[in-house]
Amino acid sequence: MSEQLIIHGGKTLHGSIEASGAKNAALPLLAAAILTSEELLFHRIPHLKDVSTMLSLLVHQGADVSINEGNQVTVCTASLTKSEASYELVKTMRASSLVLGPLLTRFGHAYVSLPGGCAIGARPIDLHLKALEKMGATIHMEHGYVKAIAENGLHGAHIHFDHVTVTGTENIMMAAVLAKGETILENSAREPEVVNLAETLIMMGAKIEGAGTDRICIQGVETLHGGDVHIIADRIETATYLAAGLITGGDVTVTDTDPHMLEAFLARVEEAGAMVKTGQDWIRCASDKPLQAMSIHTTPHPGFPTDLQAQFMALMCCAQGSSVITENIFENRFMHVQELLRMGAHIELDGHSAIVHGGKPLSGAPVMATDLRASACLILAALAAQGTTHISRIYHLDRGYERIEEKLMSLGASIQRISQSSSTGEEY
Ligand code: EPZ
Repeated sequence: MSEQLIIHGGKTLHGSIEASGAKNAALPLLAAAILTSEELLFHRIPHLKDVSTMLSLLVHQGADVSINEGNQVTVCTASLTKSEASYELVKTMRASSLVLGPLLTRFGHAYVSLPGGCAIGARPIDLHLKALEKMGATIHMEHGYVKAIAENGLHGAHIHFDHVTVTGTENIMMAAVLAKGETILENSAREPEVVNLAETLIMMGAKIEGAGTDRICIQGVETLHGGDVHIIADRIETATYLAAGLITGGDVTVTDTDPHMLEAFLARVEEAGAMVKTGQDWIRCASDKPLQAMSIHTTPHPGFPTDLQAQFMALMCCAQGSSVITENIFENRFMHVQELLRMGAHIELDGHSAIVHGGKPLSGAPVMATDLRASACLILAALAAQGTTHISRIYHLDRGYERIEEKLMSLGASIQRISQSSSTGEEY
């Protein structure tokens, strides 16, 4: 049964909402449960499709998982029996490749399906595999699976990533914490989610220095112990709701978050004319007039995040003037453009750049979500558009945004989710 979102645009959003735990922190942290046979208690787990997929993967391997009250989950992998990740699960969530490093370093072997590509790009994991080979693993590809073996265990290595990879950094960091000797990661990712993982591994007994910089040094240890895992706020969700306030000329505060994780985004919207106020764990954005056009290009953290490119494009469609949005991380992350054009946006594509001519009001239309962040972009556009927008294929959305309708309704949006059978029945 497919579902749609119906949004009546033109409502100005006001109010305050709480950020959820970060999807892109929760996924590697759950994979890290494989590194210890003691129990981990996860706080602030977001209830998302991708998270339940990762939990199913762990259960399939033999882990004990219990979903507690609120957003708490306990995971214990003492009884792990399988060191594999099946295609059925990996094809629905490419971040399943994050179990490769932990399985290999704990068991000396792993059999993990190669993640398929996805809408936004080929998404290979060649850099993960090259690093594991340098650490002593032998890697074979067979029937779409990665068969990795390290009979004598993994050993430390000096690894230089050809280019920045977030899950590559996380995968190899997890492989290195139980490897023999020292591992150095050069050109490592600096995302807050990488730091959250490193700090958790240190809590578990790992020896890691330099997380948050482009050079991380890890001394392998014998074993790791369990404990409490605190997941950081979702910075991409936070910025998405702040953008919802701005695009509707409103005033939105997001609490239980961290402004330091969003410095590039906040600097851009402030330069574009938004009022930005921050505290230790909250951010408030408001704008009672259209923003000025502002060009951006996406880069690894601390630059402008690729996961906010689509949302920022929606903002620029409603800004005064023209802006250039350049996507440097993924090769195909402009699929939201065709849908925005259906809503009356004026955008020209030129290779990795989109020239956005703002100022013309958007109009509601039937549109189709193509990937997770494109779905968020279409919601933002629909909130600002004149008239009603139907967004189909919103299963993409449920992978990364917890209770999005509830949170937007609490800010004054007119939004509802319907199942296909109760709508007019067209498949857009
Ligand atoms: C992580 O994906 C995030 N996912 C993505 O968020 C995010 O967009 C991306 O980092 C960039 O910030 C999770 O953390 C679960 P990369 P990841 O490896 O690690 C190429 C979302 O919307 N590359 O940093 O897969 C790759 O193709 C998702 O929440 C290789 O060529 O991204 C891409 O062009 C989408 N070989 C670039 O590097 C490799 O071995 C950066 O990818 C690895 C990556």
